[in-house]
Amino acid sequence: MIKKGIILAGGSGTRLSPLTKASNKQLLPIHDKPMIFYPLSVMMLANIKNILMIINPGQTENFRNLLGDGSRFGINIKYKIQDKPRGLPDAFNLARSFINNDNVALILGDNFFYGQSLTKKLEKSSSHSNGATIFLKEVSKPENYGVAKIKKNKIQKIIEKPKKFISNNAITGLYFFDKNVCEFAGKLKPSKRGELEITDLINEYKKRNKLKFEMIGRGAIWSDAGKIEDLSNVSSYVKSVEKVQGIKIACLEEISLLKRWIDKKKIIENIKFYGNCDYSTYLKKIII
Ligand code: G1P
Repeated sequence: MIKKGIILAGGSGTRLSPLTKASNKQLLPIHDKPMIFYPLSVMMLANIKNILMIINPGQTENFRNLLGDGSRFGINIKYKIQDKPRGLPDAFNLARSFINNDNVALILGDNFFYGQSLTKKLEKSSSHSNGATIFLKEVSKPENYGVAKIKKNKIQKIIEKPKKFISNNAITGLYFFDKNVCEFAGKLKPSKRGELEITDLINEYKKRNKLKFEMIGRGAIWSDAGKIEDLSNVSSYVKSVEKVQGIKIACLEEISLLKRWIDKKKIIENIKFYGNCDYSTYLKKIII
């Protein structure tokens, strides 16, 4: 089982500048909620209640004002400062005492996932305790991502931002690892761009025949919201789905209520916390 999760919510967000000059990327809005709600909802849907949020220096107060210690959503959130970005696998060096030799999931704070079959795949991945699972999605510009080449239903090759085409399957920013992850991460060397690479870490599992994958099919969407255009596309997507269907994507209280991690009383308290807004109106609707 995987019961712990890390959300990487640091980074300089330079590709979103000037939006990120005075505020943290993961606190920017995706339509009606801060970006961080979306990856947090993915962890919760995977039944992960113990979260370590890796954030930039000076951001603890902002994150705490928004999410607190997680008890408003029936979960447990701790914060860890990353003084400077050294690549994604550095999360495991920073989180060593939080992980404490357990299995752990990682999600990037700017990644957006939504779709019907996703929850089942998340639950399945967090129920493993052996090896690693990555989530793949077909994209039009694979050169912007880590990419996996699949042959005969097996991962044949993993390459970070390939210059030459090898496959359309991008490796999304959601990873489930067994307890060997800290040991493997500790041995990685920086790449040519001077950072530890998540693809090198994934390759350690592949080498040992311990790498599984899930495809995010056509009925689901994934996007990295780290660039202006993607951020605005994802926002429009959320807006359209919510408007047409009258539901909210990534309503943390709704997920928590369905899982019976919180009760209606807690939601009433949360409505007071958010004040008179659209999100509160939705919360009122789900407890009728
Ligand atoms: C990172 C990873 C890449 C992955 C992507 C997903 O890229 O290095 O393997 O496909 O996240 O969002 P970055 O966003 O740092 O360029």
